[in-house]
Amino acid sequence: MFRKFYPAEMAESSYSIDYESLYAQGYRGIIYDIDNTLVEHGADANEEVIELFRRLCGMGFRICLLSNNKAPRVRRFYHGVKIKGVKLHYIFDAHKPAKKNYRKAMLLMRTTKKTTLFVGDQLFTDVYGANRVGIRSFLVKPINKKEEIQIVFKRRLERIVLHFYKKERIGRLKQTNLVLIGFMGCGKSSVGQYLAQKCGFTFVDTDALIEERAGCKIREIFQEKGEEYFRDMETDVLSELVRTAKRQVIATGGGMPVREKNQKLLRKLGFVVYLSVTPETVLERLQGDTTRPLLQKASKEDELRRLLTERKFVYQMTAHKVVAVDGKTIPEIAAEIHDSI
Ligand code: S3P
Repeated sequence: MFRKFYPAEMAESSYSIDYESLYAQGYRGIIYDIDNTLVEHGADANEEVIELFRRLCGMGFRICLLSNNKAPRVRRFYHGVKIKGVKLHYIFDAHKPAKKNYRKAMLLMRTTKKTTLFVGDQLFTDVYGANRVGIRSFLVKPINKKEEIQIVFKRRLERIVLHFYKKERIGRLKQTNLVLIGFMGCGKSSVGQYLAQKCGFTFVDTDALIEERAGCKIREIFQEKGEEYFRDMETDVLSELVRTAKRQVIATGGGMPVREKNQKLLRKLGFVVYLSVTPETVLERLQGDTTRPLLQKASKEDELRRLLTERKFVYQMTAHKVVAVDGKTIPEIAAEIHDSI
């Protein structure tokens, strides 16, 4: 009954969304509600918005403001945020959830519903409208918790819808799997084990499954049969997990998402989380490690940086969610993943 109001995603704020990954996934245009989504109700553009828009435009995103507010308010905000050389669009009196102006926004940005995102703080106008047009919607928490009386009433209704939404999502997730991807040493296994316990899931490590099957260590597979052989084993294990795994937390080898076929399989397997890590942390953690054949070269640091740069985009493109792990404890990372489900 309430499904038409469900957002595709929920985020803490417009500023905490992982736009890099969304760009990697092919999105090119973002429609923003203004009031309580980007700034407090009625407020002018501030440094935070300007910085965000500058970053997004630098990445290649096109942006359109879509507000139910009147022309003077929207124009004032638009002029406050307009950045030299950046083409920013706006539509006032949008009558959300009516579909017409979502479509106009896409026309202005020259994007399609497949390449457009919507970010807003209200379910019955913002998200509902985006859903009607088929645009992926992000519901963010309102910036100012103190709102006008008619909105307070709407928020009560929203809470009811969100209650069912969360229940349904958790229910669905209980039938699926959590898949951890990321570079060697990012903590997939340790976070995975902790997370599995927290969710009541079983823990699986694709490297361990491969070693079990081969009856020897990964280092030996690389030495005796070569990397391609190992990659084929990875694809086999992954295909099998897609067929059989339920309620599992699956830690994957760092190179698993490199093959295009595996990217599709990983997303089919479950909710994919990319644990992103800096090369400095990896270097520190893998000092003296002899189990990873790809890092046994004399120029270990150069190789690590090269591989990480090469793979970053692939990880982002494959993941549903990115969690930066540097400086965080295992329980903190696990909680971040758990809360985003
Ligand atoms: C590899 C990562 C390793 C292991 C193999 C290859 C890679 O797993 O699968 O050595 O290509 O990044 P971890 O990420 O668990 O270290």
